[in-house]
Amino acid sequence: MEFNTILVEREEFLAQVTINRPTKLNALNRDTIKELHRAFKALDKDKNTKVIILTGSGDKAFVAGADISEFANFSVKKGEALAKKGQELLFNFVENMKTPVIAGVNGFALGGGLELAMACHFRVASDNAKMGLPEVSLGVIPGYGGTQRLPQLIGKGMAMELIMTAGMIDAPKALSCGLVNHVVKQEELLPLCKKIAAKITNNSSVAIGHAIKAVNAGFNTTLDGYNAEIKAFGKCFGTADFREGTTAFLEKRKADFPGK
Ligand code: COA
Repeated sequence: MEFNTILVEREEFLAQVTINRPTKLNALNRDTIKELHRAFKALDKDKNTKVIILTGSGDKAFVAGADISEFANFSVKKGEALAKKGQELLFNFVENMKTPVIAGVNGFALGGGLELAMACHFRVASDNAKMGLPEVSLGVIPGYGGTQRLPQLIGKGMAMELIMTAGMIDAPKALSCGLVNHVVKQEELLPLCKKIAAKITNNSSVAIGHAIKAVNAGFNTTLDGYNAEIKAFGKCFGTADFREGTTAFLEKRKADFPGK
């Protein structure tokens, strides 16, 4: 796959996707969103990709937001279309992938950048990371799922304060409010993401895909999460991974899952 704004690297069952516009602090423009969609779609289909790490290029930013220069003169209609398309192509798409996506937040994650990190299945941050949704300082609101996912992750009151103040929180604060799962020195960020990824790859990719679906269903007001869990649980019983997992346990050996 050929890309201009992102890098995709492979290492056995792991894929690393790096947003690569460091001179613009990896701001998300139209091309980046399209390329990320293309890369994630292909990786989600790929049987050999069991975990994806998403990070930003350089040591300053994960993503400093949507590219402000692209939408500064948009109309009401164009603004709505921008949010809709972005949510469909990237943010909702990533959240609903069957392959786990870990955000390695290596610096500023602002606006669309924090929204992208929040669309990932979980987040690990470096100690220089700064996170926030500064949109109201620009006269707009978060449009890539931020008003929904931030309260889900840190609670309504904290989310309201962060959105209204357009403020930034540092990595320890993000850790204490559950926005990120771990904080480490910058040089330890990717090694830790890879260590967690390695633990994930020991398990059934098929079951993990079903688990993601069931967890997400609980946050979708049009679905019944418990019912989604029952259905997903049942489906696991028809999979080769389930046969291998249970057989390996009974034979006292490590499971070798056929996978995705
Ligand atoms: N969209 C477009 N370009 C952006 C950008 C964004 N969201 N964030 C940063 N950039 C660009 C800057 O314009 C600058 O480009 P230039 O060198 O061609 O002028 C370059 O990235 C470096 O940014 P700069 O502002 O010089 O870095 P800094 O260290 O002084 O400040 C930030 C860093 C993150 C505090 C600052 O860039 C910022 O506030 N960015 C916007 C954050 C934001 O509001 N995001 C939400 C968008 S909805």
